Amino acid sequence: MRTDTAPTISRHDYRPYPYRLPEVALQFDLDAAQTRVRSRLVFERVGDENQPLVLNGQDLDLESLALDGQALNASQYQLQDEMLTVFPKTARFTLEITSLCRPAQNSSLMGLYVSGDKLFTQCEAEGFRRITWFPDRPDVMSRYQVTLRADKERYPLLLSNGNRLQAGDLPDGRHQAVWEDPHPKPCYLFALVAGDFACREQTLRTRSGRDALLQIYSDRGSENKTQWALDCLVRSVQWDEQRFGLELDLDRFMVVAARDFNMGAMENKGLNVFNSAYVLADKDSATDPAYRAIEAVIGHEYFHNWTGNRVTCRDWFQLSLKEGLTVFRDQEFSADMLAQDLSGAEAASARAVKRIDDVSTLRIAQFPEDAGPMAHPIRPESYQEIGNFYTATVYEKGAEVIRMQHTILGEAGFRAGMDEYFRRHDGAAVTCDDFVSAMESVYVQQNPGKNLDVFRRWYSQAGTPRVKVELAYDAARKTCAVTLSQHCEPVGIEKLQSPALPKPPLHIPFALGLLDQQGRPLAIEHGGRALDTVLLELVDERQTWEFPNIPEKPVPSLLRDFSAPVIVEFERQDAELTLLAQHDPDPYARWEAVQELATRQLLALVRAFTDGGEPVVHPGLADTWRGLLRDPGLSAAYKTRILSQPTEKELLEKTSPMNPAAVVQAGRHLRGQLGQALAPLWLETYHACADDAEQYRPDPLSSGRRSLRNLCLHYLMAAAHPEAQALAAAQYYGAGNMTDRMGGLSALVHFSAGAPSQEALNHFYEQWQQDPLVIDKWFALQAGAPGTTVETVRALMLHPAFSLRNPNRARSLIFQFCMNNLQGVHTPQGYEFWAEQVMALDELNPEIAARLARAFDNWARFAAPNRDAMHDALQRIQRHPALSRNVAEIISKALK
Ligand code: ARG
Ligand code: ZN
Repeated sequence: MRTDTAPTISRHDYRPYPYRLPEVALQFDLDAAQTRVRSRLVFERVGDENQPLVLNGQDLDLESLALDGQALNASQYQLQDEMLTVFPKTARFTLEITSLCRPAQNSSLMGLYVSGDKLFTQCEAEGFRRITWFPDRPDVMSRYQVTLRADKERYPLLLSNGNRLQAGDLPDGRHQAVWEDPHPKPCYLFALVAGDFACREQTLRTRSGRDALLQIYSDRGSENKTQWALDCLVRSVQWDEQRFGLELDLDRFMVVAARDFNMGAMENKGLNVFNSAYVLADKDSATDPAYRAIEAVIGHEYFHNWTGNRVTCRDWFQLSLKEGLTVFRDQEFSADMLAQDLSGAEAASARAVKRIDDVSTLRIAQFPEDAGPMAHPIRPESYQEIGNFYTATVYEKGAEVIRMQHTILGEAGFRAGMDEYFRRHDGAAVTCDDFVSAMESVYVQQNPGKNLDVFRRWYSQAGTPRVKVELAYDAARKTCAVTLSQHCEPVGIEKLQSPALPKPPLHIPFALGLLDQQGRPLAIEHGGRALDTVLLELVDERQTWEFPNIPEKPVPSLLRDFSAPVIVEFERQDAELTLLAQHDPDPYARWEAVQELATRQLLALVRAFTDGGEPVVHPGLADTWRGLLRDPGLSAAYKTRILSQPTEKELLEKTSPMNPAAVVQAGRHLRGQLGQALAPLWLETYHACADDAEQYRPDPLSSGRRSLRNLCLHYLMAAAHPEAQALAAAQYYGAGNMTDRMGGLSALVHFSAGAPSQEALNHFYEQWQQDPLVIDKWFALQAGAPGTTVETVRALMLHPAFSLRNPNRARSLIFQFCMNNLQGVHTPQGYEFWAEQVMALDELNPEIAARLARAFDNWARFAAPNRDAMHDALQRIQRHPALSRNVAEIISKALK
């Protein structure tokens, strides 16, 4: 692959495809070494005459090509640069192509590939072109009929999208199945699967009374781990009916687990292919967070059936149209599942747990992206490789942008907007702007004379805005004036344009509450109503709101429920944060106040460790934590969040220049101090949270208790409490489920160097070596452990269970070390190791390599010795003679 010449694709260059392709017939002779694909494509010209027909193809051999039954010779078509061009003379014609591809040699896991002894496809974004020549773009939608033929013994099950019309035996031990998908779709939603699988299934009656067959396919021997995924699928179908009025439009909905998979899962119409990590679970092998992740991903892919498949993207710049919206939907699904059977404040606090987790993810993964060389708007303006834009920005910030529309319109308004979206665009390939326009049709009814023009800028601006808050209390008039002003620094390529363009203001929904000095909520009169929380719509650079009848100087509770993806700037004393930590009725803002207190403390420690000062821990912080830990009104799951320190990565983002060593030291110091200060209470809570481990259920209440218990153990270990090590060992060896077992093991591995931890690790490997997902956890735990160095990781790479080819395994060891073990990786050897692994992975799987290549996006913000060493490592990669387009784009942006 040549790299230096990769063209840049720009959003504004979009042109409609000049042909329609209503019918596609594909015939596969499946074989791992060499698969033959015959396609029959009926094209209809849309516009002017004499337009060449251009098809994409990659790593294919062309066997034959015929136009309306006439074989074409090499002078009648062009084949170059992964494009096949023919010159049709009529407005309607049939093209027949026979081509070969080699699944066993395809380590990219895009297109048709081998995983174990099975065959899978992954076509999004541009993998279909590795299967056959085709207009590989999402705005060409067709009805597919697919014939699969293969050796019956090796591939007893042959699946594709839609309904199975026919199946039967062929001569020579082969068999075939014919599938037809009644719904027109773009080729990125095509899928086939072949192999020997176990299946768990059930029928479900949909709202309108149709029976649909739901099936989960997995490796034989794993069928006892698919009940949870099937339950999640049932709940997803029901939830989409109830919350959005969207019904399953298929007779058959299949989910297939694959061991080798680049991402989480893929929403192929009626035939979702999943990373097995998001399908398989039982109490002995999966942790509570893994159960929750399965629920989220099953939901996510199912919800794509409407938001992504029924209405799809016009072009790949619109990726957030389906991903941001579908992440928002899966977040809401998960929150609703947590709050099931609860009401009032309890339901709100259960939902807040999910919100807190999502905000943490955003801050850890997306905020740094939005401040670095890869910063891009949720609808990117350009790319070299679309595979590089399946980012936290498109997904997670994209979901925040949808959430803001939900917040502004309200639940009923948003639902009306969704209904309008489907009314306008069902069956079409559309743009982000089409979505906003549907929402706007509701907004203008609610707010005559206004529109969402300013809001639309969220789709074209990168960077995390900062909102500065000023509060002025007038004791004589009993009014409180709140002024919000916004600012967004130029980021990424915006910085390279000189002079930097001024960025216009955004439409920011800002939820605000006011408390009195005792922490009681104050009613705020706004828009003719008295409210606990008001939603201020900031649309200018600076705006002021004045609230009457405020009896005393209030304490503001800011950006409740994280109503916008922004950074809040407000100067206040620790005492105010402590008051909010104790009393804020908004569970998200309460958590935020505690995070802010802990962050201030940690930053003071970072300064002390940098300048050699005394590392002082403020006793007030432990008092606040003690109060929270004791509070009978808070759920265990919520306590776990509120009593967890901000992560090293979040803290690193707040140091300048970045100082990973001091960040690690500060975190460790505070953990030890809080562990000691509250030791009796951690111990008491640890015992109080014990459940009958045999009665395991992954429900929110008992999993909350398990998470709090593991947190207590963690602090006791950090404090080197005399009982801690024995508790951890007893918990590990006596565990009745994987959550407890991993909690014990991780306490041992993180805090007790030497024999006890090594013995437990060996024991764990012995017990679980047959289960790849569990062994992933084993590698990940070691990769992230404090004492782990490059040498440790190199030794683990020599372990017989390690393979760079399996993305889950590579992620569990190499990514975990390079991206999350700050202490281990931020050394000259660490950077060198990283560069080496990026280049090694790139030869196998460019998409995965490009993700690892992003580990040091923010190298320029580190202090000199680290910065220079990272720069050297980046340059080493850049000099590599045969980089993929994926990695080349990442590295060249990092070095700009
Ligand atoms: N659309 C998938 C999802 O649900 C992601 C697939 C992306 N695949 C890839 N190889 N880039 O989020
Ligand atoms: Zn998705």
